Amino acid sequence: MQEGFSTDRKIVAKKMKIEPSSLEACGERIRQGKLVAFPTETVYGLGADATNEKAVLGIFEAKGRPLTDPVIVHIADYGLFDKIVVDGPEKELIRYLGSQLWPGPLTMIGPCNTDFIPSMVGSNTGTVGVRWPKNITAQQLILATQRPIAAPSANRFMHVSPTKPDHVFYDLYDKDIVILDGEQTSFGVESSVLRIMQTPEGKLEGVLLRSGTLELTDIKAALEKNEEYSSVEVKVKKKTECVEEDQESVAPGQLLKHYSPNIDCLLVEKSTLAENSSIDLSHTGIIDVGAQLVSFKEQSLHYVDLSVLNNHKESLTNLYLALRECEVIKGVNRILVLYQEEGYEDGSFGYTLFDKIYRSAAGKRLEGSQ
Ligand code: TXA
Ligand code: MG
Repeated sequence: MQEGFSTDRKIVAKKMKIEPSSLEACGERIRQGKLVAFPTETVYGLGADATNEKAVLGIFEAKGRPLTDPVIVHIADYGLFDKIVVDGPEKELIRYLGSQLWPGPLTMIGPCNTDFIPSMVGSNTGTVGVRWPKNITAQQLILATQRPIAAPSANRFMHVSPTKPDHVFYDLYDKDIVILDGEQTSFGVESSVLRIMQTPEGKLEGVLLRSGTLELTDIKAALEKNEEYSSVEVKVKKKTECVEEDQESVAPGQLLKHYSPNIDCLLVEKSTLAENSSIDLSHTGIIDVGAQLVSFKEQSLHYVDLSVLNNHKESLTNLYLALRECEVIKGVNRILVLYQEEGYEDGSFGYTLFDKIYRSAAGKRLEGSQ
């Protein structure tokens, strides 16, 4: 179980209003090797100077994150990009896709220039994930820092990613961090992560390691617009290829359990609840999509519908908020989340929604009369 807010832990984190002077101060803080949490268009990030190994280690410590899980590097101009990624065909393709889709919620992974970015940032894989965020505060912070910023989501490891400054505070209030006190993020889930690589035959290809705020169709459309890249294939990494948290030798970015609330979370299909009318829901929070479980609303302690109209993008925007909301409601000791195995395309918002939902429950389903 994750630690929640407790009085045993001393409050050290500070919030700062976003204004030019605080952005300058935070830039200086990062140059000194310290941590700053900041808004992006996806989720809040916990940032450190990506060129400073000790500073990046501080992120792993604050989050309780294993060093096998690489962090992505945020940029706000191509000057930084040029120094981070090694010259070659992968870089050219990333640059092209960047010209179409950056600034935005797409992280691209290519060969890392380890003379500039310490190898541990990419968990010693020789690769690095780069993203140019669209959020203005994030861009201003990077420019004020004059360094690339390494930043994972600003939550404790495995917990739900933060979409509000208060979520960051709740998870990391006892850490020496400054939190830029911005708005709720506009998208509500993380960037899509695309690995660009060459096959042994020298063909360029993409692997969508994490489906997120940018749909696969947008990446394919950008590739198709360019004659040189129109035949580049993009594969989608399925959750069935991911590993359990307790499995040793975890390959980077392949954990199955993720985005999990502090209390039990189980997947439920409409039919499971309908067939088990005796299930006690008096201490249960239900997270629904498209009013499929609305007939159980009265029996449950808390009920939230991510999108009454069954819109997958709207559901994604509300998912992390709803998970964090349910886990702090008094008396709620488990969350049931609506899950659908089918009915959406690979790499679409529907795919992302049910992928995140699946991982929030680590794939555990409600069975029988539990
Ligand atoms: O929207 C986002 O991407 C947010 C904001 C703050 O930018 N950041 C974020 O970072 O979600 P994080 O660390 O929570 O997730 C990044 C994912 C992880 O699953 C990590 O394993 C994978 O990207 N990743 C990063 N660099 C990688 C690399 N070099 N090779 C393989 N996977 C990588
Ligand atoms: Mg994360």
